[in-house]
Amino acid sequence: MDKNVVVTGGNQGVGLGLVKELLKNDQVGKVLATTRSPSTSHELLLIIDSRLEVVEMDADSDESINSAVQQISKAVGSYGIDFLINNAGVLHPVDINAPINRKEAMKNFEVNCVATMAVTYAFKELLKAGAKKSGHSQVVNISSLLGSISRTWGSVPPRQGRAEYVHEDDRN
Ligand SMILES: NC(=O)c1ccc[n+]([C@@H]2O[C@H](COP(=O)([O-])OP(=O)(O)OC[C@H]3O[C@@H](n4cnc5c(N)ncnc54)[C@H](OP(=O)(O)O)[C@@H]3O)[C@@H](O)[C@H]2O)c1
Repeated sequence: MDKNVVVTGGNQGVGLGLVKELLKNDQVGKVLATTRSPSTSHELLLIIDSRLEVVEMDADSDESINSAVQQISKAVGSYGIDFLINNAGVLHPVDINAPINRKEAMKNFEVNCVATMAVTYAFKELLKAGAKKSGHSQVVNISSLLGSISRTWGSVPPRQGRAEYVHEDDRN
């Protein structure tokens, strides 16, 4: 049975790449690509494929998330969704050698962690419907080496202005 997939932040970068690859797969049913600004998501709008639906969603706003869920519910009906790919994310670098910009630092947590949890919760019923249809549904959280606790500092080349700590594994 065709799989319905939601990709958050599907208008650029990794998300747009995922959307394009998913649409090459004929086992994929609908691809629901979210973006904060459909009208300026030019690359997404250029894709001609009836399986693609562009959905406005700002993951920082519960109201926006809920209206995205409503739009997607209408698009997929009782089939629900099979995959929720939490791809939307931000990277506001924090320089430990300079005064901390609290607002920017917190944005990393708000978008990458809190918003991801809020989005996942909001899509729960659609995921349940997908699981009822095909036995299981999945949430895929796109992370980054930069978010790794065990690999912190060791495997990523130091950046300018970044404190350089050497991971124990890399000392030898
Ligand atoms: N690029 C890499 O090398 C790399 C490596 C490892 C992991 N990743 C991970 O891959 C994911 C995508 O990265 P990327 O490099 O493709 O980033 P990107 O090009 O900056 O795209 C980020 C996407 O997230 C969306 N977004 C940001 N804040 C949002 C919000 N509040 N609500 C809804 N959407 C929001 C953006 O929408 P707008 O266009 O509206 O801003 C955009 O679509 C991230 O989770 C990142 O951690 C990337």
